[in-house]
Amino acid sequence: MRWRIAIGLILAMGCTYSPAVADDDGRTIWGDDYASTLRAMKQVQRALGLKSCLHCHVKQDGKMAYAAETEHKKIARAMYFAFVDTLANTGRAQLSYADEGKSVKISAVRKATGEDAGIHVTLVLPAAKEGETATKLTRRVDLPAKDQPIQCGTCHAGTLHFMQPE
Ligand code: HEC
Ligand code: HEC
Repeated sequence: MRWRIAIGLILAMGCTYSPAVADDDGRTIWGDDYASTLRAMKQVQRALGLKSCLHCHVKQDGKMAYAAETEHKKIARAMYFAFVDTLANTGRAQLSYADEGKSVKISAVRKATGEDAGIHVTLVLPAAKEGETATKLTRRVDLPAKDQPIQCGTCHAGTLHFMQPE
C-alpha cells in the first residue's frame, strides 16, 4: 500500500508545489543550471516528437518567455513527477489532467521481470459525447536499459500521443 501514500503525496504536492520558474542558479526540474536545463529541454522536445519549444512555452513581446506558466508546462511537470520520479521510485504512478474540461487519466505499473516485463500504461479518455462510454487503452512499453532512468522517451519514443489511434 506504500504506493497509495506516494500518490497521495504527489497529489498533495500538485496542490502546494508551484515553482514554475528557475531558481537563482537557473535550476529547474530538468537541470541544475541554465545550460543543463536547455540541454534537457531539447531532449524532452525530441522525446515527444515536438516541432517547437512553443508547444509548451509562449512568446511575450516577440521574445521567448520560458518562465511564463502554461497548461502544457503543467502537464509536462506532472508527467515528470508521476512517471520519471514516482514510477521509478515506487513501481507505480498515476496522474490525471484536464483536456477541454474533461479528465484524462493515466496510470503506469512497472514490472521488472517475467514474460510481461515492462511498463504497463493505461490511458482512460473521457467520453466524447454525453451517453458514450470512456475509452480505455492499454500499452506495454519496454523498460529502459539496465541502470538507465525512466525518461519521457521511455514511453513517448518520439510521439506525443503515442497511445491514441490517429
Ligand atoms: C513538453 C513541454 C516542454 C517543452 C516541449 C519544452 N519545455 Fe522548457 N520547460 C517546461 C517546463 C515544465 C518547465 C518548468 C520547469 C520547472 O518547473 O522546474 C520549463 C522550463 C524551461 C526553462 C527555464 C525557465 C525559467 O523558469 O527560467 C527554459 C530556459 C526552457 N524551458 C527552455 C526550453 C527550450 C529551449 C525548449 C525547446 C528546445 C523547451 N524548453 C521545450 C516544459 C517544456
Ligand atoms: C509511463 C509512461 C509515460 C512517461 C514516462 C511520460 N509520459 Fe507523457 N504521456 C503518457 C501517456 C499515456 C500520455 C497520453 C498519450 C496519448 O494521448 O496517446 C501522455 C501524454 C503527454 C502529453 C500530452 C498531454 C496532452 O496535451 O494531451 C505531454 C505534454 C506529455 N505526456 C509530456 C511528458 C513529459 C514531458 C515526460 C517526461 C518528463 C513524459 N510525458 C513522460 C505517458 C508517459
